Amino acid sequence: MERVQINHNVDYSRVIQGFWRTKDWQKSTQELNRFIHELVELGVTTMDHADIYGDYSCEALFGKALALSPELRDKIQLISKCGIILPTDRLELFDGHRYDLSKSHIVGAVDRSLKSLGTDYLDTLLLHRPSPLMNPDEVRAALDTLVEQGKIKSFGVSNFSNTQYDLLNSDIKSHKLHIAVNQLQVSPYHAEPMYDGTIDHMYQEGVKIMGWSPLAGGKLLNLNDDKAKSVMSIISPIAFKNNVAPTSVITAWLAKHPATIMPIMGTGQIEHMQDAVKGLEVELSDQEWFDIYVAVLGQDIP
Ligand SMILES: NC(=O)c1ccc[n+]([C@@H]2O[C@H](COP(=O)([O-])OP(=O)(O)OC[C@H]3O[C@@H](n4cnc5c(N)ncnc54)[C@H](OP(=O)(O)O)[C@@H]3O)[C@@H](O)[C@H]2O)c1
Repeated sequence: MERVQINHNVDYSRVIQGFWRTKDWQKSTQELNRFIHELVELGVTTMDHADIYGDYSCEALFGKALALSPELRDKIQLISKCGIILPTDRLELFDGHRYDLSKSHIVGAVDRSLKSLGTDYLDTLLLHRPSPLMNPDEVRAALDTLVEQGKIKSFGVSNFSNTQYDLLNSDIKSHKLHIAVNQLQVSPYHAEPMYDGTIDHMYQEGVKIMGWSPLAGGKLLNLNDDKAKSVMSIISPIAFKNNVAPTSVITAWLAKHPATIMPIMGTGQIEHMQDAVKGLEVELSDQEWFDIYVAVLGQDIP
């Protein structure tokens, strides 16, 4: 599996596994442990989490499964996110729905994630969402602390527009801190970042893109959805021609973009992940890529 260099001491697998839906998979600890082993054997070593997933429960489910095979820790990259507060019975502090990018919240959230995941460092910490109340100095102070304590090896953002990225980056770069990744919603269903300037700017800045919901959360495979139906009417014959699953073509379409988009698959089935990974071997022609793009846009290019 191709590797993508994130900073001087972290690299990711080109295809990433997301753990948002861990609770829905209803896997036992042993089954989840087996799944992690299978992912690593497939070369999918990068694992995306967030504190809030599954009502603040998914990281701990993963942590229990990882604890059965501690030797796996050095073979995988753990990403987690913080900054969203959702009301939950699990944590008394969290009594509303808001964003919090204060130093105390970020540092506290990382400590909670490390405890749940059963590790003493994150390969990458991401701010989950931009906040209108973000004070870059607070974020910088949190990062200084976390880097000094050895709790994070790299840092990034998620769902940040170009101006939100610039605001934060211009502050933290003076402290030799670096925004390494921006995790964005991008798929052959939701292609806005490809034409609203976000991916162009990240490419220019050398920031790698993690693409969340590459199958639009499974919607692309739901043929009751008119847009999905139209996009899949282009993808399916290409898949047939290459003797691969339609999801392989979706990975190939994202991978062809020169900015290095790493799809984060949300499947809980290793066979589905195998199909996605296979897409890295599928070479789409420029015409095939544009045929899919036009179907996503819903109109021809000018
Ligand atoms: N930063 C953010 O704001 C943000 C937001 C949302 C998600 N994320 C990240 O992105 C990850 C992926 O999101 P997602 O779960 O929406 O991704 P997705 O890969 O677009 O959708 C996954 C869903 O599609 C289903 N599916 C149906 N047929 C499939 C097939 N043939 N192959 C693969 N999947 C199939 C999966 O079910 P099966 O399990 O049955 O395959 C699963 O329910 C999350 O886990 C999370 O890490 C980040």
